[in-house]
Amino acid sequence: MCGIVGYIGSGGAKDVIIDGLRRLEYRGYDSAGIALMTDGGLTVRKTIGRIDSLEAIIKDLDGSSHMGIGHTRWATHGAPSDANAHPHTNGDGSIAIVHNGIIENYLELKEWLISEHGAVFRSETDTEVAAHLIGAFYKGDLLDAVYEAAAKMRGAYAIGAMAASEPDRIVAVRKDAPLIAGIGDDCNFLASDIPALLKYVRTIYLIENNETALITRSGVTIYDGNRREVKRDVFHVNWDADAAEKEGYDHFMLKEIHEQPKGVFETLDRRLGKGDEIKLDGISLTREDLLAIDRVYIVACGTAYHAGLVGKRLIEGFAGLPVETDIASEFRYRDPCVNEKTLFICISQSGETLDTLEALREAKRKGARVLSVVNVVGSSVARESDDVFYTWAGPEIAVASTKAYTTQLLCMYLIALYMARRLGRMGDEEYGRVVAELKGIPDKMRAVLESEGEIRDLAKSIYKNESVFFIGRGMDAHVALEGSLKLKEVSYINSFAIAAGELKHGTIALIEQGSLVFALATQDRLFDKMLSNIQEVKARGAKVIGLAKQAAEDDVKLFRRSRHGKGEPYRKQESGYLDRSADETIYVPDCADEVAPLLAVLPLQLLAYHIAKLRGCDIDKPKNLAKSVTVE
Ligand code: AGP
Repeated sequence: MCGIVGYIGSGGAKDVIIDGLRRLEYRGYDSAGIALMTDGGLTVRKTIGRIDSLEAIIKDLDGSSHMGIGHTRWATHGAPSDANAHPHTNGDGSIAIVHNGIIENYLELKEWLISEHGAVFRSETDTEVAAHLIGAFYKGDLLDAVYEAAAKMRGAYAIGAMAASEPDRIVAVRKDAPLIAGIGDDCNFLASDIPALLKYVRTIYLIENNETALITRSGVTIYDGNRREVKRDVFHVNWDADAAEKEGYDHFMLKEIHEQPKGVFETLDRRLGKGDEIKLDGISLTREDLLAIDRVYIVACGTAYHAGLVGKRLIEGFAGLPVETDIASEFRYRDPCVNEKTLFICISQSGETLDTLEALREAKRKGARVLSVVNVVGSSVARESDDVFYTWAGPEIAVASTKAYTTQLLCMYLIALYMARRLGRMGDEEYGRVVAELKGIPDKMRAVLESEGEIRDLAKSIYKNESVFFIGRGMDAHVALEGSLKLKEVSYINSFAIAAGELKHGTIALIEQGSLVFALATQDRLFDKMLSNIQEVKARGAKVIGLAKQAAEDDVKLFRRSRHGKGEPYRKQESGYLDRSADETIYVPDCADEVAPLLAVLPLQLLAYHIAKLRGCDIDKPKNLAKSVTVE
């Protein structure tokens, strides 16, 4: 949440910072600002609105300034406004700071600054308190002042600071909010995220918690909490700046939807070794470790949590281990039954989501082994985990997560299969069948994406609906949650997802003439039950859009309800069967029930995208949201 960029070099700070902020706008975009070192001292300009608005108010500023800091904001304390935008300064404007995170004891500090230093505040932010605090401790050395201020602050912060009387240094400090320093040639950088700097540098230092960085034109020095210099290995970014560009697509969201076949292929391909055995790079869980585990927790937020729900079914179904899933913000405050026998799996695209990070820490404190599924290499979640399994989706820029979700799902399949094999709970035939299904997914995803035109047409017929329901059973219930989240976050349509069998226990009261219901029916074993649920909502006047697998007409086989071959037989769904119940049907290629979420979510992502586009929404930067949520 919020983006920070800083630069110190021979000149051109204004352009470098504006360019970096543009690349970080996905992190927050309600206001923006810049502080530049100029002959007259510090020049600060800031405004409500996006980077374009900021650019408009700094046109007159000389581009030759050699250093500065900039910020794009996602409001926490105080509404978006010129006054609340960063940078914030101390009383006499001699110190300017930009800040990501929340300073939890800001009220206490504010009172102290008012009573002891006569501070006068011009904004409602916690950040301005930090600026005054640094100012209160400043005696000619910014590094000293930042140290003293950090010792008084509680909460999460990544701060970049400049002092008018020290035109040769930027000082940064970090606690629980990401911060990196970029190493340039005769210039150096500060940023909250890698994409801000990719145009200029690929060699960076990851600043750790409680560390302070002194950034000058000639170098970057990192100090630990006790002010001892830290020798940090450089980190080389191996992905391309182009990966963070739109490449001809109208929006990052659409580009990222179309990148899913490749993302899933790469995530899988790198992990299948000889004889298709799974190699879990980054995970050292042995059979003995797994035998010692009596419970798995999967904890995450938002879309990542939805991937975790599917993961639970996979681990329980394939490996026979009991799994609990939880939302990170709930997990950490409910004293969960976690101990040394717990495997704690957290899932996070950004690896910086504060709720997830704190849940991870809570699990570690209780003795659990932590395995994380993360997209961003070197992120906080990755660094604090015992084992890390990367999703290799490439940078995801759109706020609405798409390719991160499908690669997270794929990782859950691989982890579940790996556990099942190590524990001897899945035979060769069954294993070969599931792996073959997974290998077929990228091509089937391409087939779904080729039908984008039909989905766009469907979007045209429904985009004016103001309320939508998503229902499904089994794995489909989890995909329904994801489809609903996608729709609401980009189109602002009031959408609601529920397990289809649960409808009749209350929610069906909301169904009336004209209600729009998406009925996900990809699970052969639950197909008949879904048909009944469709009839129930249709009987109350709903328009139903079904989503099913396109089985070949002659491909009607008898299956058994349990994977062990016992139980009641059921018929594999016939193509066209749903057509007779739903008003319209979207088909995805045929596949095994277990892997259907990887395909079923794609039409829902495309629908959300095209509906949002028809409604004129700002798809990549939906209102009130930010890409990585680094506040609680
Ligand atoms: C997804 O579209 C959302 N923007 C959001 O739910 C996201 O998945 C959630 O905030 C978790 O983020 P993370 O994966 O970076 O931890």
